[in-house]
Amino acid sequence: MRIVPSREMVAVDHSSESEKISTRASVERLEKLLRRDVTWVPTSSGYLDTMAGETVPPPGRAQAAWQSSLGAAMYQRAQRVMASLQRFGSVADQLQLRPGQTVVDVGCGPGNVTTGLADAVGPHGLAVGVDLSAPMLTRAAQQARPNMGLLRGNATNLPLRDHCADATCATLVIMLVPEPVDALREMIRIVAPGGRLLVMVPALSVGSGNAVTGPITDRFVRFAGARPFTPDGLSLLLDRLGCDHIHSHQQCNMLTVRARTASARDSKSSSSGKSSSSGKSSSSEQGSK
Ligand SMILES: C[S@@+](CC[C@H](N)C(=O)[O-])C[C@H]1O[C@@H](n2cnc3c(N)ncnc32)[C@H](O)[C@@H]1O
Repeated sequence: MRIVPSREMVAVDHSSESEKISTRASVERLEKLLRRDVTWVPTSSGYLDTMAGETVPPPGRAQAAWQSSLGAAMYQRAQRVMASLQRFGSVADQLQLRPGQTVVDVGCGPGNVTTGLADAVGPHGLAVGVDLSAPMLTRAAQQARPNMGLLRGNATNLPLRDHCADATCATLVIMLVPEPVDALREMIRIVAPGGRLLVMVPALSVGSGNAVTGPITDRFVRFAGARPFTPDGLSLLLDRLGCDHIHSHQQCNMLTVRARTASARDSKSSSSGKSSSSGKSSSSEQGSK
């Protein structure tokens, strides 16, 4: 997919007229989700750059790799193998996406997860992938669906409007961000009240079942310049940031936390100084180790 570099004339260079029209429509829909103060330029690779080509120095070895073309290519292959071996539940299922919804994939990488989200929300829905890395976004654009939009942007300062999405996810991203709380706060900001969030990160090893893989993963994560989370660390953070219905599940060294943002009623009562009446719920499961 190639976007012609003109704000008015965004078009793709392949296949049928109907596909061109739907892709143009998804860019128009994407533009409506952008914050008013954000300017963007279309790129010849097929994503919109909201950072005006700004380069962000990678905070560690892993992110340095993901910002290179070779690293992006290697990650895309490895991710497919890992996903087929580990059989994590589909992110779309876990977010309980419905046709017509809008979902944002923060740190979308080569778009392997984003395409699944786009398929789940169907032609009337929109899946938006945001990433810092141009090579990753270029790969994502190569497998983009007509109902997918791709943005170059920073997880800690998302270019999207408040409450513009029904759900958001960040798989294998937050551990790379030097300010993880800012990234989580941004995810919460862009989701509608009562909307769903999913965050997947490597977690510190727990239990004897991880005796071999645990320490290796821990060392690898730290060598890569990433931050491993304790199994409860992420849930506690989301709780402190006002999320509800928090469920965490650990499979081997991978921790998945699902949560919901406060409903409109809860936000109102907390902003007026009253305590929430929803009765917060939080649960933690340790999966197969
Ligand atoms: C390990 S890959 C995960 C990609 C994808 N979420 C997946 O599960 O396959 C991490 C991605 O997060 C992106 N990333 C890291 N820090 C980011 C930030 N501050 N803002 C946006 N993207 C970021 C990287 O560029 C990379 O594409």
